[in-house]
Amino acid sequence: MKLTVDGTVHDIDVAEDMPLLWVLRDLLGKTGVKYGCGIAQCGACTVHIDGEAVRSCQVPAQDVWGAVTTIHGLGTPESPHPVQQAWIETQVAQCGYCQSGQIMQAAALLSEMPDPSDEEIDDALSGNLCRCGTYPRIRAAVRVAAAKLKNA
Ligand code: FES
Ligand code: FES
Repeated sequence: MKLTVDGTVHDIDVAEDMPLLWVLRDLLGKTGVKYGCGIAQCGACTVHIDGEAVRSCQVPAQDVWGAVTTIHGLGTPESPHPVQQAWIETQVAQCGYCQSGQIMQAAALLSEMPDPSDEEIDDALSGNLCRCGTYPRIRAAVRVAAAKLKNA
């Protein structure tokens, strides 16, 4: 099967039920996509499929319906996405484990809702768990990113 990931088309041959998460991490080396729970409860594995935030641990690779974007393809170190810039400026990360999922969820939120309230940010990110408790900085970073996108 063919899978487009971060702008590159890959020809992969995997078992029908292999979750997208393992294709990304084990076959394509996209280790910025994290494994937290494996049961859609933590959000660490969040990627975009055609811009929509999805839990890659729950999507069989065979069922992927569009182009996949991971944290590696959202932006680059030379040209970070505004959400990634905001995360750096706000120094959100603590251990960092949950953060790529948080960033992917935040980027999907802002593409649908450019100026979310605190409640809307909390709602959209409530499925992304952070054991370090960085939620106040996540909220602040989403507001910084919203301002950047507005002025872009
Ligand atoms: S690893 Fe996918 S939601 Fe936790
Ligand atoms: S920064 Fe450690 S789990 Fe979120």
